[in-house]
Amino acid sequence: MTASKTAPLEPAAVPEPERDRVVGVALIASAVEVGSDARVDTDDDERAITRFGRVAFAHPAEAEFARLMDFYRVKWAYEPTSFPLRWDGGRVAEMFTPDFYLPEHELYVEVTTMKQSLITRKHRKLRRMREVHPEINVVLLTRRDYYELLARFGYGAVDITSLPEEDIEQVLYSPVEIAERVAALGAQISGDYAGRSLVLVGLLKGVTFFLADLAREITRPLAIDYLAVAPWEEGQTERVRWSKTLDIDIAGREVLLIEDIVTTGLTLDFVVAQLRERQPASLSVCVLFDKRERRLIDSPIRYTGFEIPNAYVVGYGLDYRQLYRNLPFVCVLKPEVYARDHAERLARVNGREAARNTGTEAQAPVSSQSA
Ligand code: IMP
Repeated sequence: MTASKTAPLEPAAVPEPERDRVVGVALIASAVEVGSDARVDTDDDERAITRFGRVAFAHPAEAEFARLMDFYRVKWAYEPTSFPLRWDGGRVAEMFTPDFYLPEHELYVEVTTMKQSLITRKHRKLRRMREVHPEINVVLLTRRDYYELLARFGYGAVDITSLPEEDIEQVLYSPVEIAERVAALGAQISGDYAGRSLVLVGLLKGVTFFLADLAREITRPLAIDYLAVAPWEEGQTERVRWSKTLDIDIAGREVLLIEDIVTTGLTLDFVVAQLRERQPASLSVCVLFDKRERRLIDSPIRYTGFEIPNAYVVGYGLDYRQLYRNLPFVCVLKPEVYARDHAERLARVNGREAARNTGTEAQAPVSSQSA
């Protein structure tokens, strides 16, 4: 693995536009050095810094791409070169720094996880790059390409969860993106509860991985307890009930309820009302995924990991019929998966009906999805 950064070069006055990329770096250094009016248009859609070994990545997708390259033993360098794209009176006005260079393939790779609608500017830059530096080989990995790549090669875990890659509609969040957000939530909670201790109450089962990761990011003394609401069953007439209640007495304690996902808000509303009856000193809610669009009852949520679109998601603790909880990423399954499953269940029900009607044993198809 190579991980190099461009060595800072001496600022230099540049008389003519120079198309050599190494000189380009000098141009940029020069433009930055000259003063605030010498604005260089950079290609940074950067967010938090992700640490991966000794390299500080600007975006989790980059850390993941590096991991993928390591997996395939492909040598890489992170942002080793800046290419000048446009000049203004002899100074560089615009530059482009591709995320990766793969020296064995003489290929530069730009990884962008911006939404398709936002990448027009990036495409324009790439076009310009190809005009100005036609000898340089650059590819752009869009959000879709990148997730497809991860789904195909990134995570061997897909095999052991019997989720065929073609059943995935879209990966919403990668493991690194989740880890980063969880760390940020942990830091925020630690700050808000400074000087106090708290009780984390996790609502089983989807919350297991989230709570385990979040608890380790919180730097306050804390106790952990769990609640579970009994799943609704076909034909059930009684109202919602607990299948696991608290072991800890939360009266007078600072309680943080941790939920995996909130959709209608019905579960959250019920749980919050029940917890309030136990008279905690304070009660706040932390939710990893919020499908706000689908809300029926609005309970206040203090900490939200991600607002997600209105789609059924699985992975990182979230299940579909008890499966897929151990996927390291969060994804949307293709509608065919549910349709196939529904058809199989319907066939089983019909099979049972037929058997009852004729008094014979009908052979129901076996579901590949049943837990
Ligand atoms: P709500 O009561 O409609 O807000 O639903 C909350 C519960 O439904 C969560 O605790 C999950 O167990 C489950 N749930 C809702 N949406 C999803 C999803 O997209 N994937 C997996 N489970 C979900």
